[in-house]
Amino acid sequence: MATTKPVSPKTEKRSRPAESVTGRSGTATATKRDRRSQTRRIPIEHLGSPSTAVVITGGGEGIGEASALRLAEAGRPVAIWDKDAERADEVALACRDRFGTQAIGVAIDVTHTRELDDAVLFTRNNLGVIGGLVHAAGVIRANAIDQLSDEIWDETMAVNLRAAAMLTKALTPALVEATPGSAIVYVSSMDAFVSNKLVSAYDASKAGLLGLTRSAAHALGPSGIRVNAVCPGYVRTQMTDLLFATEAVIDHIATKIPLLRVAEADDIATVIRFLLSDEAAYVTGSSITVDGGVTSTRTS
Ligand SMILES: NC(=O)c1ccc[n+]([C@@H]2O[C@H](COP(=O)([O-])OP(=O)(O)OC[C@H]3O[C@@H](n4cnc5c(N)ncnc54)[C@H](O)[C@@H]3O)[C@@H](O)[C@H]2O)c1
Repeated sequence: MATTKPVSPKTEKRSRPAESVTGRSGTATATKRDRRSQTRRIPIEHLGSPSTAVVITGGGEGIGEASALRLAEAGRPVAIWDKDAERADEVALACRDRFGTQAIGVAIDVTHTRELDDAVLFTRNNLGVIGGLVHAAGVIRANAIDQLSDEIWDETMAVNLRAAAMLTKALTPALVEATPGSAIVYVSSMDAFVSNKLVSAYDASKAGLLGLTRSAAHALGPSGIRVNAVCPGYVRTQMTDLLFATEAVIDHIATKIPLLRVAEADDIATVIRFLLSDEAAYVTGSSITVDGGVTSTRTS
């Protein structure tokens, strides 16, 4: 793992909120209620976002990059984990310049499981308590079922699915430390629900992420960590450059979308920010489809 642009360490444990939402106190019932309500912190001048750091895998491009910027806008320190070191640095710089928040680039291939603990430590030492994870790193390879190879299957699963599980494991102690308010968002896809016969391993990995979402939410909920997934539709990013080869193609695809347009990365990022915020304090084990309505329509 190569690491870049460390910023001044912030290692103190975050203080608990002084007041409950209700502001009531004085009785045993009220005390119990107040203790429970601490998971939902007010004020929300930063859209209900906790002040803890967030790790964003695949943060160097597309949906990950847009998420890093939206989270930085809400005042959260961000760690851009990407195998493209240059892009990770550039996005971290943009977060610092535009929003004055702490941000670091971390060059890492998230399939290298043995490097994850060091990357967590580096992030913790530079940004302080880590209260969020966005797993946006992903790959898509053409591989209809009759052309499938072990190599394509293994690579796709390693990045899209296995890394999500291993990252969750590596970050769990940090996320527990950061409670209340810790949360994870996996970036799945509408392909978790509807098939694209040209990318069978991708579809399987994205459906698998929803199983992982439920399992991790069940296991980590008692520790105060929420786990959810977003399922984007057609999004204009580097990943879809080939598909969206011309404006005519984009216009044609748009005719099949109830909202009549493909998404920008920011359309997904704002939902990710919501899921990581205390506005979503009672949402876990869930997935939100952000596809302009594509999966709600009949195709025949
Ligand atoms: N673009 C879409 O239409 C779309 C639709 C549905 C779901 N998604 C999902 O959203 C996520 C982000 O997609 P995007 O369109 O922003 O892609 P993108 O290609 O623009 O960005 C992906 C980023 O992940 C990084 N990355 C890839 N493999 C990595 C690895 N092993 N370790 C570390 N970093 C790695 C890349 O360097 C890149 O910066 C993916 O999981 C993708 O499957 C995208």
